[in-house]
Amino acid sequence: MQSFVQRLLTKGFGLPSGPLGRVGGRLMAHGNAATERHVVELAGPTEQEVVLVVGPGPGVGLEAAALRSAHVIGIDPSDVMLAMARRRCASLIDRGRLRLAVATAARTGEADASVDVVISVNNLQLWPDVPAGLTELHRVLRPGGRILLAAHEKWLPTDLATLTNALETAGFTSVRTRTWNPPTRMASTSALLSAVRV
Ligand SMILES: C[S@@+](CC[C@H](N)C(=O)[O-])C[C@H]1O[C@@H](n2cnc3c(N)ncnc32)[C@H](O)[C@@H]1O
Repeated sequence: MQSFVQRLLTKGFGLPSGPLGRVGGRLMAHGNAATERHVVELAGPTEQEVVLVVGPGPGVGLEAAALRSAHVIGIDPSDVMLAMARRRCASLIDRGRLRLAVATAARTGEADASVDVVISVNNLQLWPDVPAGLTELHRVLRPGGRILLAAHEKWLPTDLATLTNALETAGFTSVRTRTWNPPTRMASTSALLSAVRV
């Protein structure tokens, strides 16, 4: 059973809901912005590419990805986060550059081989079944497509070697791991994993 503190953290950050979720969303939009933008930069989507952002929260990375790609899809199970992302990215949505949907890493609702790039920041540690999530993201990526995952190093669900194995088992290759220190005291060191879909 979840403790009181765990329930507060879930409402604020893990699966944001209600007023606490809105406060958590504002904190994440500020504290995680540098990492969100850095991950988009590393993934490097081109103006021809379709990007899937898993767990975008308040939408900082969504906005950055939509400004440099053909189309972005943002999926998140939290209505509160989707509403915040919708407000931040309203003009991109109106111009048909961005679509938001209620979904999860393990059930994206997207078609086979329909995206070029998958990005996910501070999200991996919340997936109930990491192998199932990676298998689903492999399914929706086109062959040769790339995935970039980032998470606070101290909150990774398991070690980087195990995550590397999980990516390879799901069908990814060229797995690379590294760390990055965001230029803010609000966020700790991030672990980054990148890989290519076979
Ligand atoms: C800690 S927040 C991170 C948000 C944003 N990427 C950031 O770094 O600021 C986690 C986000 O993942 C979403 N989430 C939770 N479980 C998920 C799942 N199984 N699949 C996809 N997203 C999930 C939450 O609703 C929330 O928006």
